[in-house]
Amino acid sequence: MRTNFDSLRIVKVEEIVEETPTVRTLAFRDGTSSKARPGQFLMVWIPGVEELPMSVMIWHKKLYAAVTVRKKGYGSTSLYDKKVGEKLGVRGPYGNSFEIRENAKKVLLVGGGTGLVPLLRLAGHLNDARIDTTLIIGAKTHSEVFFEKLAGKCLGDTNHRVLITTEDGSYGIKGQTTDAMLDLISVEGFDTIYTCGPEGMMKKVFDLAEARSIPLQASLERYMKCGIGICASCCIGDRLVCKDGSIFHSQDLSSLSEFGSEYRDKTGRKCRYL
Ligand SMILES: Cc1cc2nc3c(=O)[nH]c(=O)nc-3n(C[C@H](O)[C@H](O)[C@H](O)COP(=O)(O)OP(=O)(O)OC[C@H]3O[C@@H](n4cnc5c(N)ncnc54)[C@H](O)[C@@H]3O)c2cc1C
Ligand code: FES
Repeated sequence: MRTNFDSLRIVKVEEIVEETPTVRTLAFRDGTSSKARPGQFLMVWIPGVEELPMSVMIWHKKLYAAVTVRKKGYGSTSLYDKKVGEKLGVRGPYGNSFEIRENAKKVLLVGGGTGLVPLLRLAGHLNDARIDTTLIIGAKTHSEVFFEKLAGKCLGDTNHRVLITTEDGSYGIKGQTTDAMLDLISVEGFDTIYTCGPEGMMKKVFDLAEARSIPLQASLERYMKCGIGICASCCIGDRLVCKDGSIFHSQDLSSLSEFGSEYRDKTGRKCRYL
């Protein structure tokens, strides 16, 4: 793993895609980021604002990568507001990555919101390995659905399904990702389940997977400052999300009592998920 602060690279935003009214993808040229493994993240420096962890998004041009950001607080909104030609700093990619088990034949991916970013990079690898893949994309409503076509493209050479769920039923299957997942795993077997999205959703996905003894890998988010295992701001139990994760397997998650219930704010204070 690279752990060198000197490796900050200045990149220029070259293209911007509007994914939804609150989500944008910003593409830049950076060969190092373009080689990220699925699930790895960058520390993205927004000059004069702050540095934020962001999953590395795929981009269709060689030596390019991207970040897909949802505007939320001050940092993410400043990143979202960047224009073509403006500069950012990136370091990384950091963290471990999703693992594809040897002899895997059929897998399930469950993602929500910007949690789809690492799952798309994984989808490319599953496609290369010709592993039968089902992806469930969850959103509250139709206007918040993104990456549906891109996901189909990433999985174009292998047997695959992309299912959409919306909570208000305005598109796809009505309900949450876990409703669609329950229907699927009740009748089909999967070698592994991969998930990334809101932690409440991932906890439900984990509980369903555990009930059927299906191995699971989840990408966790915690507040990060250094991204390389120094400051401990990203701790969950006795683990550091930036260094020991951000991907955690079922056996790790079972021992992390904070998973799905608590996180730490910027001051390190424990807060409960609502
Ligand atoms: C490994 C990793 C990958 C990430 N990838 C992406 C990505 O691809 N796209 C993307 O948009 N974001 C991603 N994030 C989240 C991102 O880094 C920021 O936390 C998010 O954009 C909010 O930052 P902010 O400064 O705008 O908000 P803040 O002002 O810090 O917070 C806005 C709101 O979010 C809440 N919040 C902040 N951090 C957490 C947390 N850890 N758990 C629960 N609630 C929290 C705050 O309490 C507040 O209500 C990732 C995070 C990690 C750790
Ligand atoms: S962000 Fe500093 S130790 Fe993880």
